[in-house]
Amino acid sequence: MANVVVVGAQFGDEGKAKVTDLLSKNADIVVRYQGGANAGHTVVANGNTYKFHLIPSGILYSGKTCILGPGMVIDPKAFIGELSALLKRGLDDANLKVSTCAHVTMPYHLLIDAAEEESRGNQKIGTTKRGIGPTYADKCARSGIRVEDLLEKDVLKAKLDWLIPRKNVILERLYNLPALNSKEVYETYLEYGQQMKKYVCDTSAIIFQSVREKKNILFEGAQGTLLDLDHGSYPYVTSSSPTAGGACIGAGIGPTIIDRVIGVSKSYMTRVGEGPFPTEQSGAIGEQLRQVGKAWAEVGVTTGRPRRCGWFDTVLGRYSVRINGLDCLAITKLDVLDEFDEIKICVAYRDAKTKEVYKDLPSITGCLQYMEPVYESFTGWRKSTSECVSYNDLPAQAQKYINFIAEQLDVPVAIVSVGQNRDQTIIIEDPIHGPKRVLTKNVK
Ligand code: GDP
Ligand code: IMO
Ligand code: MG
Repeated sequence: MANVVVVGAQFGDEGKAKVTDLLSKNADIVVRYQGGANAGHTVVANGNTYKFHLIPSGILYSGKTCILGPGMVIDPKAFIGELSALLKRGLDDANLKVSTCAHVTMPYHLLIDAAEEESRGNQKIGTTKRGIGPTYADKCARSGIRVEDLLEKDVLKAKLDWLIPRKNVILERLYNLPALNSKEVYETYLEYGQQMKKYVCDTSAIIFQSVREKKNILFEGAQGTLLDLDHGSYPYVTSSSPTAGGACIGAGIGPTIIDRVIGVSKSYMTRVGEGPFPTEQSGAIGEQLRQVGKAWAEVGVTTGRPRRCGWFDTVLGRYSVRINGLDCLAITKLDVLDEFDEIKICVAYRDAKTKEVYKDLPSITGCLQYMEPVYESFTGWRKSTSECVSYNDLPAQAQKYINFIAEQLDVPVAIVSVGQNRDQTIIIEDPIHGPKRVLTKNVK
């Protein structure tokens, strides 16, 4: 029995869904604990590509309980659309559960997200425009609609009668947009509630009972550590807690229930949206990493925006190990580096103003944009890794690169992914039952 959190260790899109899919095979329950339809999780299984936004990627295995947890924000229209497309492809919703407590993304959240972004001008965040920020803002302001409210006619009506006129003031006066019709919104969302009803329950109770029965629970993180509301590159973050600690709050469990935390990183780095990215490569190297035209080209799954690309950053990697208490790492997309003559890796930062060198991030707030990366250079292996099935199959230079990351981050690399497909995965050590990580007192 092991309860495992899979968490993005960079800026999102690290390949979390591929790793979740791999581990789902031996899980009984797969739980999404935060975020909403801003996520875009790709799994390639037996030649079929699936792109998940709200539904846990564990749904690909029949018989697994898949939970949309209380910490999520759910756009019912997106949920119903995603689910019906999956059902058409033959997947099974018999064990799909949605928390009563998850918050609902309403039409005004979508409109306000887009209008607010527009109004920010050059201070925009580059959101996915899925209404995430405004939904979480209403949750914190205690003005949110929860999934359970969609099932209670009178409650929903009373809440919307108060909310919609207020949201219309914002839409009309602040953003010059047409007002929403309260009755239409009420009727549409009541109907969504009826369509979702059969999935809605107290998901935390299901998880706790499963803990009692010693079942295996997998927590599928969305976004990434550096997009975390508290610990990411604020304000260029999402509005939830993608980090490992978020699994407790977002799923409704205590920290003692989690046995293991696995961080997922690409062998390089990407970011979609605005915000600092010290190792970003805007020229030919960025283009080479982006691999335009390939099935897994660096293009956002949710928005289709090109991802910004750059070299692996061990300063941010160490930060991620710290914030999440990572037990081990999964490194994805090693194959993308196959054709590089030279591969760089950032080992420290130099403050552009003071010239001081930092091995660890001095502070996450405000300073990232002044940091210049200090690189070490690796000779590329110039050989395909996509057919490698074991660590020993990897070219010596690729092994050296993986070992260097493990050493720099002071965490073992348990999994290396060398292609999109399920079977293009190298297990170096058991990611779940491997030795519990022991922190060394003094890191080199
Ligand atoms: P997630 O949001 O973290 O689940 O990641 P995304 O699905 O947004 O983006 C990861 C992309 O990389 C997807 O297209 C995956 O199919 C693809 N991918 C994952 N692992 C590998 C790998 O090892 N090699 C290659 N070439 N593609 C990969
Ligand atoms: P997965 O789960 C990468 C980014 C957006 C923007 C910022 C805020 O696929 O890794 P939001 O819409 O959340 O308010 O946008 O966060 N972002 C992601 N970037 N992967 C994601 O999800 C992301 N979800 C949000 O681009 O910079
Ligand atoms: Mg993604």
